[in-house]
Amino acid sequence: MKILSVVGARPNFMKIAPLIKAINKDALHPVEHILVHTGQHYDQGMSNVFFNELGIPAPDINLQIGSGSHAEQTARVMLAFEPVCIEHRPDWVVVVGDVNSTMACTLVASKLGIKVAHVEAGLRSFDRTMPEEINRIVTDALADILLTPSADANENLKREGVPERRIRLVGNIMIDALVANLERARQSKLMAELGLTRMGFAYVTLHRPSNVDDRARLTQIMDALDRLAGKLPVVFPIHPRTRGMLEEFNIPVRHETNLKLLGPIGYHDSLCLTESARFVLTDSGGIQEESTFLRTPCLTLRPNTERPITVEIGTNKLTRLDRLWTDIEEILQDRRSPGQIPMYWDGGTAERVLLALLETA
Ligand code: UD1
Repeated sequence: MKILSVVGARPNFMKIAPLIKAINKDALHPVEHILVHTGQHYDQGMSNVFFNELGIPAPDINLQIGSGSHAEQTARVMLAFEPVCIEHRPDWVVVVGDVNSTMACTLVASKLGIKVAHVEAGLRSFDRTMPEEINRIVTDALADILLTPSADANENLKREGVPERRIRLVGNIMIDALVANLERARQSKLMAELGLTRMGFAYVTLHRPSNVDDRARLTQIMDALDRLAGKLPVVFPIHPRTRGMLEEFNIPVRHETNLKLLGPIGYHDSLCLTESARFVLTDSGGIQEESTFLRTPCLTLRPNTERPITVEIGTNKLTRLDRLWTDIEEILQDRRSPGQIPMYWDGGTAERVLLALLETA
């Protein structure tokens, strides 16, 4: 069997690493695997560092499409990916998550009659102002097999009329990467370098266009972080999108003793901060899930989430700027439950994905 898997942006790398490992481990079913990197993310700190830390082999093909508007990025991936599909004719194209590369490669493969497997299928925020929601809807409409992380995703797909035979609950593949890397993450030196103590700081990540692409909102967010830093140390590795918007809006970025503003950090450092923080404040999808697994309280600065299970049974809570202080007080006073870990978030998802591909080949 020939599997071609696609990565493009930072949150894809920890979802593909476990699958490649499972393929290499499975001696019974020899698989020819081709890894395509679209090049949506390209900086050392947004891409290479994850390949190194996660032990992902160098991509067989890099499409080097880079940044651009949604249409530009999607179109460039499509143009570059089509000849790759025609040349290699895989049995499966495996796409993960909800970034532009995920949707673009799905469109190309399905029009060429190549089967597509979507890992992390069925998540819905029901908010079409989010580019990822559009990517999720298009990808799931076209993919041949929809591999879901949690039961709510199965329900979403059934409601959209997807036949049950195309849906399979496999669990959360990103948790496979977390489980495999936790020991190494615990050896991260970042906390010592920043003078942080376990449970003594807040870990902040914010990069969604809805939070950072608006001047007034981003100013309010930076003010809130300043205020938060008066209470406990805050670590905020700044995503290139956020950095770009801060510069464009001329918002002063004040690195202070208690407000530790960094560049993007690697996977192990991020896991280490997520596990050790008093709480995380984020708009990332992945960190909502990682914090649920690590039982760290999480405040998600968004009006909705495509990962409702992290709110229903995990440690996540949606927050707003005007309610942030109440929510933080609740955490600091230990008034929150430690949460539960959803079914199949157990480190065995990649094997279930591979099994599903072999069975439906
Ligand atoms: C993308 C994903 C988002 C994901 C995020 C994780 C889509 C629609 N969005 O958003 O779902 O949560 O990645 O990081 O696919 N840039 C760099 N270096 C890089 C990559 C980007 O400097 O290696 C800068 C560029 O100025 C670029 C901007 O960041 O214009 C945004 O990058 P882009 O890939 O368009 O979207 P993200 O905001 O990263």
